[in-house]
Amino acid sequence: MIHLDIYFLKYPLPRQMPVILKIMIVLGIETSCDETSVGIVKNGDTLLACSTASSMKIHAKYGGVVPEIAAREHIQAIIPTLTDAFEQAKISWKDIDALAVTNGAGLGGSLLIGVLSARTLAIIKNKPLYAINHVEGHVYANFLTKTSLKGYVLPDKQPSFPLLALIVSGGHTQLVLFQDHFDYQLLGQTHDDAIGEAFDKVAKILGLPYPGGPSIAQIANGGNPHAIQLPKARMENRYDFSFSGLKTAVLRATQNILGVDHTFESFRIAERLNASQRRDISASFQHTAIETVVNKTLDALKTYAISSVVIAGGVASNQELRHQLSTRLPIEINYTDPKLCTDNGAMIATLGYFKAKSKQKTVSTYELDIFPNLSM
Ligand code: KG4
Ligand code: ZN
Repeated sequence: MIHLDIYFLKYPLPRQMPVILKIMIVLGIETSCDETSVGIVKNGDTLLACSTASSMKIHAKYGGVVPEIAAREHIQAIIPTLTDAFEQAKISWKDIDALAVTNGAGLGGSLLIGVLSARTLAIIKNKPLYAINHVEGHVYANFLTKTSLKGYVLPDKQPSFPLLALIVSGGHTQLVLFQDHFDYQLLGQTHDDAIGEAFDKVAKILGLPYPGGPSIAQIANGGNPHAIQLPKARMENRYDFSFSGLKTAVLRATQNILGVDHTFESFRIAERLNASQRRDISASFQHTAIETVVNKTLDALKTYAISSVVIAGGVASNQELRHQLSTRLPIEINYTDPKLCTDNGAMIATLGYFKAKSKQKTVSTYELDIFPNLSM
């Protein structure tokens, strides 16, 4: 940690008061899925660097992430992203106070590359190391409020507690209530598919490229969101989610539109759909999926004492989600830059900062393991 002692020389001074400004810079490494990302963050609010390499284009050919390819690509990308992050931040290793790395949840092979890289760096550079839960990390992208990097639009203030987080990614759909940093309660989560996974699967049925979220969002723009009626799952715990029924309902509705029976294979559907049908189905699916998560967020907001609401995860970059939240929730929401919604090292570094600040235990650089099924 760098300690800068600044002595205010106010005149007249009854006595000199030393004001200690502590600057803490954390480097975060994220490799849980198909993005290799290194972020550098100062004091938990200032983004100094975020360098991300994605192997998504390779996976797109297979219609989803291939774990072995993702792991191999992380090996290729980790050194270049580290180098690029230091160039963006215009600092060197001596300025780094701590390292943070995602050690779960995620793909085993992918997590291993990040964790082994972080462990090695922590040993050779002699830095403390913090282990980060990927899903919790997503929430902390919302704590970044300053940067001199070009191309980022950040909120002007950090969220305050109690904080309601809607986490919507390819692997998770959760509503979490934070009373403070590290003091949280899981209100609800998905019982089957995550919302991003539903976007990806519906896109596959419609013949849209992977990842499905951005593809659906793009063509849904020109479609009618009320063209087909789709169901919303009723759950025993009203904050829980289920999206597998919605995905099946889209498949059935599409088969009906084409006039084929329900045994008609889903992989043959795409070639039969015209552009207008594809747009309407995308818009109707997106509207229903987004309305589902917004309804539950609004319900939680009315039930609990909440000071701010944040959204996190890849689906948080969805404009329809932002639009529905802003028009329906009686609270101002400050959204972060879409680049910080999908997987990135900056959110990991930010959570690492808060762990260090609250004097949480560092992890053993010789023993830190991965936890592919880690939950919040
Ligand atoms: O958080 P993330 O980068 O990775 C996980 O931790 O899963 O989220 C990826 C997910 C994918 O399912 C992708 O289709 C979805 O986020 N996604 C979107 C959008 N951008 C990414 N879903 C809806 N609308 C978007 N604009
Ligand atoms: Zn993620």
